[in-house]
Amino acid sequence: MSPKTSSAPSYSTTNSIMLRCLIGIIAACVVRVSVATAQTLEDRITSLINQMTTDELIKQLHQEGGFNTADNLRLGIPGLIMADGPHGVRDGSATSFPVGIGMASTWDVDLARRIGAAMGEEFRGKGKHQALGPCLDLDRDPRNGRSPETGGEDPFLDAQITTAVVKGIQSTPCIATIKHFNLNHRENGRTSNNVTVTRRMLNEFYGLSFRTAVQQGGAMSVMNAYNLINGEKCAESSELLSSILRSNWGFPYYVVSDWGSIWSSELAIKAGCDICMGSDNYQKDLPGLVQSGAVSLDVLKLAVRRVLRTKILAGLLDYYPAGDGADVNSPAHQQLCLEAGRKSLVLLKNQNNILPLNKYLGQTIALVGPSAAVCQIDGGGSAYVSPFYSVSPKQGLEAKLGAAKVKYARGCAINSNDTSEFQAARAIAQSADIVVFCGGLDPSQESEGMDRATGSIDLPGKQQDLINALAAVNPNIIVVLFSGGICGISRSVDNMKGLIYAFYPGQESGNALADVLCGEYNPGGKLPVTMPASNSQLPVWNDDFTGDLGYGYRWFERQGVTPLYFFGFGLSYTTFSYSNLQVTPTESTIGQSVTVNVDVTNTGLRPGEEVVQLYLSTNNSDVHAVAG
Ligand code: BGC
Repeated sequence: MSPKTSSAPSYSTTNSIMLRCLIGIIAACVVRVSVATAQTLEDRITSLINQMTTDELIKQLHQEGGFNTADNLRLGIPGLIMADGPHGVRDGSATSFPVGIGMASTWDVDLARRIGAAMGEEFRGKGKHQALGPCLDLDRDPRNGRSPETGGEDPFLDAQITTAVVKGIQSTPCIATIKHFNLNHRENGRTSNNVTVTRRMLNEFYGLSFRTAVQQGGAMSVMNAYNLINGEKCAESSELLSSILRSNWGFPYYVVSDWGSIWSSELAIKAGCDICMGSDNYQKDLPGLVQSGAVSLDVLKLAVRRVLRTKILAGLLDYYPAGDGADVNSPAHQQLCLEAGRKSLVLLKNQNNILPLNKYLGQTIALVGPSAAVCQIDGGGSAYVSPFYSVSPKQGLEAKLGAAKVKYARGCAINSNDTSEFQAARAIAQSADIVVFCGGLDPSQESEGMDRATGSIDLPGKQQDLINALAAVNPNIIVVLFSGGICGISRSVDNMKGLIYAFYPGQESGNALADVLCGEYNPGGKLPVTMPASNSQLPVWNDDFTGDLGYGYRWFERQGVTPLYFFGFGLSYTTFSYSNLQVTPTESTIGQSVTVNVDVTNTGLRPGEEVVQLYLSTNNSDVHAVAG
């Protein structure tokens, strides 16, 4: 399923095409026989709407049970069955793929599409019609509690990866929902934060990924954000839901509200928020609003039209194939998860080529840290996917090297001042050949509904003190960090010989990490966010987006501030050379495309993958460029 979008839909259903052929044959054989004309999609919707009572119309537009809308058995219209979320199905257990920011750190569009397709199969395997993902939010500040779900800090990278996920999901009979439209950037006060922004920024910068997913990905559903934009709730903003999304971008399908985000049913339905979830507001308010004339029947019917259009084009009314339960956590999806996990790891430091560890094979490893014996799957919230199994770093390394070679001590908790476990960790570090420290964040530190628990980007608790204490007894220390929002490590980075940023790489995390540490897979991930050296390097984090170049690499470049690691940075176990850069034509007019070629050669001894990055800026724009 990959329908093209159009502002003036003029689709015919498969049935109507077949009917047309049939009519053609009959008409050719029998002269002067009068026949009905083929029914277009819009005619079919009109006919259904005309048969509906007001009550039936309203029932198409609100939840019936936590994640469903009601069936209309009389007219053969199924309700929608939805489930979160962005990195797998949140309903019971399912394959837990890397989180959004981890998919972005692969920079691999084809992989993102394959993950989308696998997720779509699992949604269908669990009987769902609609995935409440992917999440297109940008990571404007690493302290945002939903950083794990974001596509990183850059609109273009976000757009490419999430559009590929949408295409993948919708290559199966599952509807993708792009969220949260728009400008959701922090969790504290998320339902009342009022973002001020120019229309240009809204369209070109924060809108880029949504527009791309709508126009190039064919996304069939959009979820509004909780926050306000320029004083209007996103669920109730006709500028957002009608002008930008529909009139400008041509989105023909339905908008689903974020859970409980509609305050005024009248404003929301008039603005173009079609389905109300997480509250009974539409159910409660729409009958009276229609009766009093405050909401016209035409407004109601328009919302139902969009819902029916989506349902019909998704196949729900006609030939909808059953999902296959065997797709859920299938061996193929586990393998894909491992591939994705490996590709999402970013090698940031490799002093004296301490990695890969293959030269140390046979020697002992001290495995330390609060995330060494647990597989960190995600921060907290509605995106969390419970896997059937997961592989911790300890399990991954023990499977690879043999349990006898891996000595484990936790050393400290994620965020505590308790140092009583330091001694045991130091002891194993001292007697080992290599130390691997695994730490970062977990759902207690970053979550939906809650920004970074400490309010600081720094790796929390005593983790940096422990890294320093371990390095003092064994300098061969490699640090692996798991988190969504990137962590500051300025007090310990000089003491690390190796550093891998892992984000949350999915249920195969430990195997992916062991493959990279031991050199069976050459890491090629690149940072999808800038890694600041300290809190003081971050811009002020507020809701004023006006004139916002405001964060990430654009901020660092403008301020002349050097971060710890740049956006797009990531090392490999091999080396690449770039040569023969050609730009054709060398001068172009507006609208003319330009082709850029470059030869990339692997000049090292190992096979490896490279992400070729090209950054453009304009010298003489009339308006100061925002999209870079
Ligand atoms: C989240 C959405 C999610 C919904 C349903 C909301 O709180 O913001 O992303 O899809 O809950 O779980």
